Order: sequence, then structure tokens, then C-alpha cells
Amino acid sequence: MQQIFVHESPLTFHLQNDALSYIIAILPGGLPGQLYCGKRIHDRESFAHLRGKAMPFSVALTLANGSVPEESMRLEYPCYGSSDYRQGAVSLLQENGSRLAAFMYDSYEILPGKPRLEGLPATYVEAPEEATTLVLRLRDRVAGALCELYYTIFSGGGVLARSARIVNEGAQTLVLERAMSLCLDLPDHDYEWISLNGAWARERTPAVAPLTAGFQGVESIRGNSSHQNNPFLAFRRPHTTEHSGEVLGFSLVYSGNFLAQAQVDQNGYTRVLMGINPTWFSWELKSGDSFQTPEAVMVYSDEGLNGMSRSFHRLYRARLVRGPWRDRPRPILINNWEATEFDISEEHILKIAGKARECGIEMFVLDDGWFGARRSDRAGLGDWVPAPEVLPNGIRGLSEKVTALGMKFGLWIEPEMVNPDSDLYRAHPDWILRIPGRRETLFRNQCVLDFSRSEVVDHIHGMLAKILRESKISYIKWDMNRSITECFSAALPPRRQGEVFHRYILGVYALYERLISEFPDILFESCASGGGRFDPGMLYYAPQAWTSDDTDAYERLKIQYGTSLVYPVSAMGSHVSAVPSLQSGRRVSLRMRADVAFFGTFGYELDLDTLTPAEQEAVARDTAFMKAHRQLIQFGDFYRLASPFKGNDAGWMVVSGDRAAAIVGWYHALHAVNTPAPTLRLTGLKPDAAYAVALLSGDGTEKKLGAFYGDELMNAGLISHPDQSEVDGFLHPAGDFSSEIFILSETPGE
Ligand code: DGJ
Repeated sequence: MQQIFVHESPLTFHLQNDALSYIIAILPGGLPGQLYCGKRIHDRESFAHLRGKAMPFSVALTLANGSVPEESMRLEYPCYGSSDYRQGAVSLLQENGSRLAAFMYDSYEILPGKPRLEGLPATYVEAPEEATTLVLRLRDRVAGALCELYYTIFSGGGVLARSARIVNEGAQTLVLERAMSLCLDLPDHDYEWISLNGAWARERTPAVAPLTAGFQGVESIRGNSSHQNNPFLAFRRPHTTEHSGEVLGFSLVYSGNFLAQAQVDQNGYTRVLMGINPTWFSWELKSGDSFQTPEAVMVYSDEGLNGMSRSFHRLYRARLVRGPWRDRPRPILINNWEATEFDISEEHILKIAGKARECGIEMFVLDDGWFGARRSDRAGLGDWVPAPEVLPNGIRGLSEKVTALGMKFGLWIEPEMVNPDSDLYRAHPDWILRIPGRRETLFRNQCVLDFSRSEVVDHIHGMLAKILRESKISYIKWDMNRSITECFSAALPPRRQGEVFHRYILGVYALYERLISEFPDILFESCASGGGRFDPGMLYYAPQAWTSDDTDAYERLKIQYGTSLVYPVSAMGSHVSAVPSLQSGRRVSLRMRADVAFFGTFGYELDLDTLTPAEQEAVARDTAFMKAHRQLIQFGDFYRLASPFKGNDAGWMVVSGDRAAAIVGWYHALHAVNTPAPTLRLTGLKPDAAYAVALLSGDGTEKKLGAFYGDELMNAGLISHPDQSEVDGFLHPAGDFSSEIFILSETPGE
């Protein structure tokens, strides 16, 4: 249960829930100061002592009025330009050319629940008692600006959501040059930094480093949240593990340019800043205008990294994702991309779909290449009209035929992009993001449409909505295959070009909002050359995201493992693809490919006709397995058990809310010869309950192993049962890249 205690002298706000206490006090002079952020503590009349004693500064460093400089304080929304020499949360250009804003306390309000963020994705509540919001109103009377800081404390999970809103209350025109969503000054730096980094086909690899003096940060200045860095960071105490110890996680609900950084200062304090990246950002505020920052979500856990992840998973799964698909198990689909790429015909598509139907697959998704002159990636992007030479009966006809097979139909789109060789580009060359007089950089032969302009968004909406209205479409895969270069809009005056990156992403959000409002039953999956925009902002509109273009099961193990630090299993698009893998050339068994893809939305990305009859039977059995267990896998509590980044074996598991059922995935990269069978210690079970344990065999059947108490499984662990075949009386090892799936269900006794 959450509460906000208010104490008058000095004015102090103690935000508290089941796990977390966050304490703010108004400091002498009026700046809001940070007193405590960490494990829940008792409330008391005053926390003034937590400010600490004034530093023994030399006389030269003491201000004329005897007070200490701001750089010795821990502050909630500081600005560079006075006596705080750390990076600030806000910067406000005024007509006289100065940028300093000293936002001093003015008033506060406490609201039940959580207000919505206009035009931006954000977590939400369904009942007012789920959260309480503190609004701190600060004013800079010289600039004539109001700053509202929003702090929403959720009832559970150690979750606090923050954002800021700046309002120009004066007569002059102001320009916001920096407006962070979150600033947090911690009193020490005894933490290890964790961020998720990578590249195309190897997204979200965790990086761990000690926090030391100076700067550490991740960012995107690509226009999308990016493959390279994710809008997330965490600080864990040096002895924190997956299962125990303190960790603070920060996640930005935003899909565009972001900055997430830590600065360890001369006092050993750590300043965390998270928000829109100030690079190439500015926002003009005329008298009366306001600017709302995106939301940053902070999680405190003393149950290790898994504890932090479970809080993010629960919040994002249930109070960020919206719509009818939020709580529904995800359809098992087959996508034709890796099977056909651009070489598609209605006949071939129907053949793939028909075979998939025989295996119990529920949806067929038609990927790139169905429209305009898009027979390769060199032409047609932007012309959202079915190509008759590929689809004689259009999308409408194909969707009806697929539906008649007893399957749902899904479609790929890439609404934000255009090939120069397209009707759209020829008709509207000024609808492209590019700087006049400069060469435009093409990636994958395509340009980025200027989604900061509402007429561009309207036009794309018109073309897409027509297809969606006419056809039987249950799912949309919304792709985005390049980042932004030469960011400039022909529709904005010179002084407002700094708004384009943010306006672009607002345009993307606006199109999503229109489409999901008009077609609420369609399941959207976001994608950006794989996982280039896998962020919380997207999850508000699209309940799932294509995790990576790398579908090699061994690589995917790592990518899904890293992704699970923040994002729930129900959000991770995961498919079984053909071998040798298109990305790695590796041959991983069909068993392991399915066993990795189970921990996601599950589907296939191959032509089933190229498989042997025995493999097709395995596909049917795996599809049936996923149908039977997807509620638990996608909506249970997920725990990481062994990291693929640390050794040969990796493991994870999901446990039902009542802890009566669990599924464990255990994966072995290289086969270890003549070594004892490894064990895997489970977690999250009831120690005193007995669990019947079954192993999913190589052929997809379930083999009973017996009943074991939860305490044994969590302490002695599960013993590996490698899939060995018997030839001429000898056991033959499974070889490299093997996996084991264990199914646990509570049973009355041994
Ligand atoms: C990139 C996506 O990640 C792939 O899955 C596929 O849809 C291609 N684009 C199509 O161009």
C-alpha cells in the first residue's frame, strides 16, 4: 500500500510503498532537495538530519550569505548556471540570452491515482487506489516559468514514476533546451552500473562496470531508441546477485533520442539524469505554452536483479500495455520473411499457410514485398497499395483465403519510410527529413518521412486504414528499418528545427493511437530492423516487439536473456527459423530452437515444407505444447537462473502466481564430455510443496521424472537429463546446442 506523508517544518514529503521510501524536503531558500531513496523506512516528524552537515568548505567556497553552494546539495530538479557545477536537469533560454532557471518551491498537490500524460505513452492505473501522485509546483519568477514535478508512487513493486511539465507563464518567449524526466542525487556511488547495449542482431547485451568519478552514460541520437543502447540503466550494490541485494532500475517510457547518465561528483554523490537527449533538442514555449517530458520509471528492489525485473515486468505487462491483447495469450504465428524474403506469390503464401494450419499454427503473417513496386528493397516503400502481379486478389482476397483456412491473417508495414523510387516520394519530395542543400544519407535505399508534419501522418493513416478496413487483418507488424540522418523539417522555421526529433516521435505515437483506436482488436507488434525500437514507449501502443533479426537460437538465448532485465516474456517476439541460420550459419536442433522461442510470443519463420515429416510432427507437438502452457509462460513470474554470458549453460524459469506450476528452460552451448551431470537451482517455488517434474523429450513427448519438494529443487537443484540416444547398446550424446524443458506442477505428495 502506498502513502505520501507530509511534514510541515521543514516541508517534507515522504513517498512510501511496500518496498520503497523516497523523501524530498524543501531546502532553505526554496530548492527541493533529495533526502532519501531506498528501502522503505518508518516515517518520522523530520528527516532534516539526512541532509547531512555542511561540508567543511574553505572560505572561498562559502557563499556571501554564509550558505553552502548548491553543488554540495542533493537536488530534485537542478539547473546549471549558479553554484551547482554538475549537469542540470533543465535549461531555459530566455530572451536576454541567459539560460539559468532557479525553480523554487511554490506549492504542492496530492492526487489519488495517476494523471495521464497528454500525447505521450505512460504507465497508468485502473483504480485510484493503485497509486498516489505528488505534484510539486516550482516557479522561476525571473523567467516567468512554472515547473511541475510529478511523482507517482505505485502501491507495490517499489515503483515510482516521474515526469516534469514546464509552462511559460510570462510574456517573453522561452526556449527549453533541456528538460529531463528524472534527476536523482544519491548520497554515494557504491554501485555497479548496468546498461543494455549492442548492435543489429545482438541487441540488449548487459554491460556491468563499477561506478567511478566522472561520467557514465548511454544515449541515442538516432531518432529511435536504438539497437545500440536501450533507455534503461540499473545500479546494483557490489554484492547484489540475481536473487538478493539492492538494486535501483531506471527506465524511460520513450522511443526517440534519450540520455541516461550517471555523474559521480567531488563529494562521491551520484547524480542520475534520464530523459530526452539534449543533443539537437530545443522547444519553443510562447507565452502560455507548456512542455510535458516523457515518463521515467524507477524501481527499487532488495531482491536482486530478478526482483527489479519482476517489478518492471508486472508494471509494463499490466499497466503500460493496453487494449484487449494486454491479458491475452499471444497467437502462434508463421511469418514468411526468412522463407521467401521478397520472392512472394499468392500461391506460395497459401501453401506455407496451409501447411502451418495442419501443424496447428494460428496465424499467417505476410511480411515485406506485397505493395507497390516493392519487388526488392530498392523501390515502392511508401506506396501502400497491394501489387496485383504478386497478389491478384489483393490483401483483401488473400486475407479472406487465409481466414478460410481457419487461420488469422497478419500484415507487415513500414509507415515511416519511403524509397526515392516510389510514387509517394515523387508526389511529395518535401515530405522527407533532409537539410536543404545537403546530400541525404540513404540507408537500405530509403528515406525517413517527416512525421513531425500532421499532413504526412494523415496521408499514411488514410492509406493504411483503407487496407485495414477492407481486409480481414488481425495483426500488424510495424517495422522501421533505418535511423534518422539530416534531421530537418521543411515545415518548421529555423529557430524550431530543434523540435523535429521529438515531434517526429510524437507523430509516430499519434498514428499508432489513431490505428489502435479505430482497430482495437488488431494485435500490433513493433519492429525496427529487429530490436531497434524495443522500448517501453512502444509497448504502450504495441503489446509485443520483434526482439531481434537474429533468430539463431543460441544468439537469441543471449538476446532474450538481456531483454528480460526490463521487458516481460509476453512482449518478446520469438520465432523458430530454418537451419543453417541466416544470421550465423549455425545448425541448432529443432528442439533447442523451439525451447528458446517458447520464452516469448512463439512462432515460426520458415517454410514448413522444407522440413522432414518427422520435423513437421515435432512442430505440431511444439505448437500444442505452447498452446497448453503459454498462459503460464507469458504471464507468470519470470526468473533468470544461469547467464549465457557467463558460461556454457543458461537457464530461466516461469512460475505461476499461486506458485503451483512452473516451466524451466535449460540450455547447453557446447557438449561437455565426461563431466558430472550439472545441476540448476530453481527459485520462486513453495519450499514445502511437492512438485511433479516432467521433461519435454527430443520428440516433443513429456517424460515423468518423479515428484520433488520445492526446497530440494531450490537448494539441491534439478539434475540435467541430457537427451541421449541409444545406438547398438551405447548412449550417444546429444551434441552441442542442446536444451531441456522441465514442466513442474504441484502434487499432493511424493
Ligand atoms: C526487418 C525486420 O526486422 C524483418 O523481420 C523483416 O520484416 C524485414 N525488415 C523486411 O524488410
